[in-house]
Amino acid sequence: MHDLNLVEEELAKKEYAILFIEGGGAHMGGQIPWDADFVRALPSLTQKYGTVVLIDEVVTGFRDSTGGWQATIGVTPDLTTLGKCIGGGLGVGALGGRADIMDMLKPKASPQQCVGHSGTWNGNPLTAAAGITACKLYIGGEVQKRANQLGAYLRERGNQVLKERGISARLYGRNIIHFYLGPIDYETSDNTLPPTRDVHKLMARTPTQERLCLHLLHRGVATMEGRLFVLSAAHTEEDIDQTVKALCDSLDAM
Ligand SMILES: Cc1ncc(COP(=O)(O)O)c(C=O)c1O
Repeated sequence: MHDLNLVEEELAKKEYAILFIEGGGAHMGGQIPWDADFVRALPSLTQKYGTVVLIDEVVTGFRDSTGGWQATIGVTPDLTTLGKCIGGGLGVGALGGRADIMDMLKPKASPQQCVGHSGTWNGNPLTAAAGITACKLYIGGEVQKRANQLGAYLRERGNQVLKERGISARLYGRNIIHFYLGPIDYETSDNTLPPTRDVHKLMARTPTQERLCLHLLHRGVATMEGRLFVLSAAHTEEDIDQTVKALCDSLDAM
């Protein structure tokens, strides 16, 4: 992880059409967070070996900022995938990026260059209308700011609960709050980050976490296998208070 030499060694084989990474870090916006300097170094490496770099912002696009996670760290990939937020609640997927690559998707591209891209739901007017309406709400960054504030509130209150009970677990993340259960390798000064850099520890799934997931679900809080809390500007402080109460009650019942 974060080994630029290894990435360069692989790219030098000239076997890769694309280098594909997830915004924030796999999975769901940063369960295993990227080191920003590592990601910033990728475009020049891919360019050197004639491939392209794509940042998957299906989760982080418009969620982290109007410019996605890439804008928050200041990197411009060749291509970006988007989904979720841009559909305004309807199913959607989108690709954007460098004009010379995107032009190949145009039906008017030369037969040698044209990449077929037909689909029943392409450019679906209903989805597009919902998406445009939603995107107008994202302009200005207020909703993102609100989701981040709620994320911080959940993180702080949840971690207080875990520490009070002496549980070796932490909440971390920005607006999607990840639940880590495992050894605390260090206390972070930036508590959007996990208390370990060990990928195996971050990925570990224990029966305890599965039980916690069921306990929380039983109390009305869905956490996708006990892994994360997905926040939006539609949530309120009361929702977070209820979530923290559900967390306390679940831990006490286990
Ligand atoms: C980072 C990321 N990329 C892509 C996808 C796929 O999106 P969809 O299921 O809308 O095709 C997901 C789904 O959760 C995702 O989390």
